[in-house]
Amino acid sequence: MEAKTIRFWRAGELVSLGNVPPDRTLLEVLREDLGCTGTKEGCGEGDCGACTVVLGEPRGDALEYRAINSCIRLAHSIDGMALWTVEDLADAGGRLHPAQEAMVQCHGSQCGFCTPGFVMSLFGMYQNHVCRGETITRELAQEELSGNLCRCTGYRPILDAAQRMEKLPAVQIDEAHVAAQLNSLARERASLPASGRYLLPHSLRELLALRARHPDAQIVAGCTDVGLWVTKMHMRFAKVLDVTQVEELRRIETYENHVAIGAAVTLSDAFGALVAERPQLEVFANRFAGLPVRNSGTLGGNVANGSPIGDSMPLLIALGAHVVLMSERGHRDLPLEDFYTGYRKNVLAADEVLAWIKVPRPAPHPGPLPLPLPLAGEGWGEGREFLRAYKISKRYDDDISAVCLVINMTVTEGIVRHVRIGAGGVAATPARAIRTEATVFGQPWNLDTVHRATKQLREEFHPIGDMRASAQYRSEVLGNLMQRFWLESQGRSQINLERFRLEEATE
Ligand code: FES
Ligand code: FES
Repeated sequence: MEAKTIRFWRAGELVSLGNVPPDRTLLEVLREDLGCTGTKEGCGEGDCGACTVVLGEPRGDALEYRAINSCIRLAHSIDGMALWTVEDLADAGGRLHPAQEAMVQCHGSQCGFCTPGFVMSLFGMYQNHVCRGETITRELAQEELSGNLCRCTGYRPILDAAQRMEKLPAVQIDEAHVAAQLNSLARERASLPASGRYLLPHSLRELLALRARHPDAQIVAGCTDVGLWVTKMHMRFAKVLDVTQVEELRRIETYENHVAIGAAVTLSDAFGALVAERPQLEVFANRFAGLPVRNSGTLGGNVANGSPIGDSMPLLIALGAHVVLMSERGHRDLPLEDFYTGYRKNVLAADEVLAWIKVPRPAPHPGPLPLPLPLAGEGWGEGREFLRAYKISKRYDDDISAVCLVINMTVTEGIVRHVRIGAGGVAATPARAIRTEATVFGQPWNLDTVHRATKQLREEFHPIGDMRASAQYRSEVLGNLMQRFWLESQGRSQINLERFRLEEATE
């Protein structure tokens, strides 16, 4: 059974590639099959951004652009999309694109190994902001370059380049033309059932039928973890079932009491929906890996993968999220914390897929949530959810948590009326701190309760030590974070790195 042809738009034409193995990465196809060596390989695991390329998907007669890591993205997954690499930006006469010209003018490149990746992130930024008339602030540039690492030049000239782009002669893509070609490709693909060794269904019905017929296929979404199984562990997949183009699972639906996020919604969009309702999560959301990983990875993939150090699950557990599992036999709905049975193990049957993540909405409260983050006495009103998500990692940006703790509490008349605590990095699975919750539920929210909760939280989990942190450190930090939560609930937040802005400090 052959892998089906991959078709995508690149550099003004439709490209068709046959016989590409299902587990071949996009970077391998670019560098080894197409000879396009401008895109570099640094880490091969989504950490450095040297391999960044930009994908475009049609939205009506416009395009949506996303910078992604090609090293861990399976090549077949870009079927039906537009692709730009660093070789596609200069015009036919050799005139550099503003993303390239700005790097030259600002001296943003030294050894150059990271440069193609930076240029592509800048190109994504150019399309998503400059072309829409938006100014690129320093803060935005820092956020959108968070997935690109450079060891030589230093980031200042690269950030300068991000802000220089809008001052250079504009370059426009004929989006309507590209979108028309992609839409016609999509119509052709819709008439063909998914087949071959890379199964890429477009509807939920088709996905469930394929899952029932191919329980042995490796299921993938954005591949930001499974991609590492290929590049680092050299695993091979005879057959792959990719959920990312299933129309129903790409939706975010808002209901009266919850938001339903389809399992194929990217982390960027999923966090966007969560932050829209709980703006205090913005910093936490932006610290989830780097932008190219969030642009490719999906919330469903993060949840189904079940890594104990994945950051979305402690948050979702603290918010009281449920997961909906579906098969041709029907569906079931269960609390997220009941989904996991052991290290990277879950209750999914062989014919089931994770379809939706249902996240309760915050209770309605008059007026918008005040920002900066609400503190007791300056915004944490009676009966209002006080939610804090803490990530402890060695690097501030683009890193994996050693410990993640999310506490969601509501206090009315001084008594804890609601509490949910999600923890990561402290057990074999993402976990709910049920015993600690029991320690504080119904109790007065005071120092005595906090001391008991701190002790209980340290006793509730028995973390392991690894290269990110020792077991003792993790236990200690858990309790410390409970104390930080208490202090912040009392309006005390003297030192808070999340509010620290280097530019402001040096002005
Ligand atoms: Fe480092 Fe892809 S090579 S992120
Ligand atoms: Fe050397 Fe970026 S210029 S790593």
